[in-house]
Amino acid sequence: MNVVILAAGQGKRMHSDLPKVLHPLAGRPLLAHVLDTARSLGPSCVCVVYGHGGERVRETIGGDAIAWVRQEPQLGTGHALQQALPALGPDAQTLVLYGDVPLTRAETLRALGTAAADGVALLTVTLEDPTGYGRIVREGGAIQRIVEEKDATPAERALREVNTGIMVLPTRNLARWLTGLRDDNAQREYYLTDVIAAAVGERVPVRAVQPASAWETLGVNSKAQLAELERVYRQDVAGRLLAAGVTLADPARIDVRGKLECGRDVAIDVNCVFEGDVVLGDRVSLGANCVLRNVRIDAGTRVEPFCHLEEADIGRNCRIGPYARLRPGAQLAEDVHIGNFVEVKASTIGAGSKANHLAYIGDTEVGRNVNVGAGTITCNYDGANKHRTVIEDDVFIGSDTQLVAPVRVGRGATLGAGTTLTEDAPPGELTISRARQMTIPNWKRPVKTKKK
Ligand code: UD1
Ligand code: CA
Repeated sequence: MNVVILAAGQGKRMHSDLPKVLHPLAGRPLLAHVLDTARSLGPSCVCVVYGHGGERVRETIGGDAIAWVRQEPQLGTGHALQQALPALGPDAQTLVLYGDVPLTRAETLRALGTAAADGVALLTVTLEDPTGYGRIVREGGAIQRIVEEKDATPAERALREVNTGIMVLPTRNLARWLTGLRDDNAQREYYLTDVIAAAVGERVPVRAVQPASAWETLGVNSKAQLAELERVYRQDVAGRLLAAGVTLADPARIDVRGKLECGRDVAIDVNCVFEGDVVLGDRVSLGANCVLRNVRIDAGTRVEPFCHLEEADIGRNCRIGPYARLRPGAQLAEDVHIGNFVEVKASTIGAGSKANHLAYIGDTEVGRNVNVGAGTITCNYDGANKHRTVIEDDVFIGSDTQLVAPVRVGRGATLGAGTTLTEDAPPGELTISRARQMTIPNWKRPVKTKKK
């Protein structure tokens, strides 16, 4: 099968400098969704017809194995397909998709391909309000042609079965039908839809297929429609998670903007956002209002509310948050506790270690069973370069300690509260850097001097 994706339109109603097909749905350009679906069909050729803002579209989408075809000027959907023809294998079928119709299911398109085995197949829907769409004209039940709203008679306008634009056609015939197109219509365009009457004229079978849900055929012309499809996408993902056994506190309040893979008995509270690739192991539970981007969490780990986790790898049975921040390169082994207002960046934390309150751990290797006291900070940045800190197994770090990197704390060492560590601390010993406490006798607090 050849796939042609029409994407030359301007998208004026988006009121944006960004080409329409690059506007993100679930965090990815509309066109990327269409390309994913197209590729999942295993096509012999994928051709994108671009026009307005096209170079930017090409650069953003990149992509090997796409035949990019420029349509300039844009004289209609039939003209767009004419431009694509040289890129298409003549013996395969051609599926026509649209860069601004992102949510069509692959199963629907496969069914369309099957229905077009010996002819043409159209994806149609029946709408309460068909305004704006091309209408499917039938006689005795058989499809005769498509008439565009602007060219339709009042009787034709009353028809509610509409053309979604998505269709599968035999490519050799298509080439011939396209040559016969004329622009003697209300919009002075070469309509792809006119090939249907040509097919019927040659007694080529034309069949209609309906999608499981009408939203599969919805396009984006405005920000309101984009928001609507975002909601549809979210609901669809939530439905699939529920069907797979994931517990969602409220399926209307989860945002998955990438891939989310869940093990058994995963529970997700409200308002969590997932971006990129997120993997949650068995029995992982997420509290409300967490944001996870490219994160892997192993079985049994609990994430409390309000955590921000990015490019982190979290082991089994950890406890994270509330209010924890894991930044890129945070790698936690099993049974690690990261508590409120603790930030971890580019650091490994060994099994059973804890940093429960108010700490910054950056560019650090933390061993096993280490206790990081409240207010501990690794001073990894000297204003020009980053340096590493090593904290060996079984270390106890007292509260409000600064570790000025590069520095190493030996196995089993204890650092007294308030220590500013600038040199390595030997294993097994208590190291402390604060001044000895003293009391000044007869010291008086200053008093406010009275103005005269
Ligand atoms: C088209 C169909 C109509 C259908 C509707 C569904 C035709 C003549 N009409 O109408 O039957 O109900 O879609 O939404 O096909 N495009 C190009 N190059 C062009 C013109 C359009 O690439 O020269 C692309 C646009 O980017 C857009 C798509 O084709 O993605 C549809 O074009 P548009 O002008 O919006 O067609 P409609 O009038 O909506
Ligand atoms: Ca349209």
